[in-house]
Amino acid sequence: CGIVGYIGHREAYPIVLKGLKRLEYRGYDSAGIAIYDGEELKMSKTKGKVADLKEKLESEITTNGTVGIGHTRWATHGEPNDVNSHPHYSNSGDLVIIHNGIIENYDSLKKELKKRGYTFKSDTDTEVLVNLIEDVIQQEGVKLGKAVQIALNQTVGAYAIAVFDKKKPDEIVVARLGSPLAIGVGDDEFFVASDASPFIEFTNNAIYLEDGEMAVVRRHKEVKVRKIKDDSLVDPYVTELQLNLEQIEKGGYDHFMLKEIHEQPSAISDTYRGRMLADKGIIRMAGVDDNMERIANAKRIVIVACGTSWHAGLVAEYIFEDIARIPVEVEYASEFRYRNPIITENDVVIAISQSGETADTMAAIKLAKEKGAFAFGVCNVVGSSISRETHAGAYTHAGPEIGVASTKAFTTQITVLTLMALKLGKFKGTISHSDFQFHLQEMERIPDKVKKALKTDTLIQEIAYKYRYAPNCLYLGRGYNFPVALEGALKLKEISYIHAEGYPAAEMKHGPIALIDEQMPVVVIATKKGHYEKVVSNIQEIKSRKGKIIAVVTEGDQEVRELADYVIEVPETIESLTPLLTTIPLQLLSYHIAVMLGKNVDQPRNLAKSVTVE
Ligand code: G6P
Repeated sequence: CGIVGYIGHREAYPIVLKGLKRLEYRGYDSAGIAIYDGEELKMSKTKGKVADLKEKLESEITTNGTVGIGHTRWATHGEPNDVNSHPHYSNSGDLVIIHNGIIENYDSLKKELKKRGYTFKSDTDTEVLVNLIEDVIQQEGVKLGKAVQIALNQTVGAYAIAVFDKKKPDEIVVARLGSPLAIGVGDDEFFVASDASPFIEFTNNAIYLEDGEMAVVRRHKEVKVRKIKDDSLVDPYVTELQLNLEQIEKGGYDHFMLKEIHEQPSAISDTYRGRMLADKGIIRMAGVDDNMERIANAKRIVIVACGTSWHAGLVAEYIFEDIARIPVEVEYASEFRYRNPIITENDVVIAISQSGETADTMAAIKLAKEKGAFAFGVCNVVGSSISRETHAGAYTHAGPEIGVASTKAFTTQITVLTLMALKLGKFKGTISHSDFQFHLQEMERIPDKVKKALKTDTLIQEIAYKYRYAPNCLYLGRGYNFPVALEGALKLKEISYIHAEGYPAAEMKHGPIALIDEQMPVVVIATKKGHYEKVVSNIQEIKSRKGKIIAVVTEGDQEVRELADYVIEVPETIESLTPLLTTIPLQLLSYHIAVMLGKNVDQPRNLAKSVTVE
């Protein structure tokens, strides 16, 4: 979910509405806004997108007022409908709340409140929380900030909240535990939001609350930050934002996803720029350099991640084992954390996360730390929770990724992890000097080669058109390109809702081959380096069962061309770097199919970009 709020001298409504639009990547099941116009607290909310809300809202309420809050939801408790949408009122109608997260003990709190006569309109945990706050105010006669604090200390769960009381119209109280919350500090005005994008054109100064902190944001006053647990005052640290408006707009592309696909050449070079000095044979990564012994001597590296980041982890497994000769395990963060994993002080646990906020990945890294492991973060969002929780890390510097289906995050994660493996390999002597040099030089050529891979777009549109109504699709790859097959299938599922499966090409004969008939498109990654002949045999097996073959091959390939229905050429490179190229046509393929099917590419149904609940 995304939350946003404003208090200051401007009209709150347009700021909150635009802010919600920018936060929609965090969830878009329903949306709502509450505005205080000086006398009344007006609220409107609806199932659906922020655009639906705008229509409804402008016909329902007057939107004047200089304080307001808004919410865009990814449903957890209660189906997405108007009633379950946020904001939620307290029973008296004085308090209003927006909440991102889960209150786990809401049921017992709700029972208590019911006994005291409280009633509930929605199925949400959030409505319980706002009434709990109201109950504290009434029982203990304390101010809003204090009441929020007392109430939160009775809850178990995760949250970023903003609470407004119409009896105290000059303040908004916010708090965070497990879900991000930024306060934009402007000129006699304040913004609160899940990230800085809603206020980027108004101020460059932001206070990021830490877990377990709350703040009272008051008109004409300094922001006061406290620890929720013990009420101690915290000196707020004002960060200067690096983000600019252009980065979060579409820049002439039809969709964010397409823009982000095309940004990959520059995103990849931004990732290695300043780190890699190919002519000098140097890779500098402060997070690795400062902890070289610890990381290089690891008995094992465990990678934890979710979704696309997990696929980047799988590619990294091949790279680390190959180049740095360190055993690697890759785990879904959600599985890792709940199965009492065997982790020792000799392990290095790497969390990969674009957002740096994914709840399961965050919990996995906390667990690894408890068990004494060294925690390393590979995140894109600077200052995110995971980047702060880890002992050291390396940012991907891909710039904001807004399309829900991850693209440039994936290739830049692989880039960072490759640099890391090369550094470790060099330190350990597991890669020869000439090989190391060759990798660096080749890495410098990757952005241009990605540009070439992007030129396959017209051909891919043709392929997309041909197979857009396929009910299923199979993706096959081996070695470094097995995770790319998984990622290709995930992309197609996510945005076109076509059922797709990724498989190691050789495993196909142990099951999926039964699915192959003349209706089934099979995307095969068959680049020259990397078990080429074996993959060609797999292609033969598909062909003899009449499957339709779309092959991603190395430039100039002839053998596969004779077998496949379509071939997509990507430039040649070192095997370990092929995923950076072979991924590109698969991203484009899913993009074009989804567009042709009329799907919402940037905001596919049921998904959210940043999943801050377990
Ligand atoms: C969500 C997104 C995916 C993403 C995954 C992990 O499911 O829809 O695109 O790969 O979360 O996110 P992270 O921010 O941790 O990389």
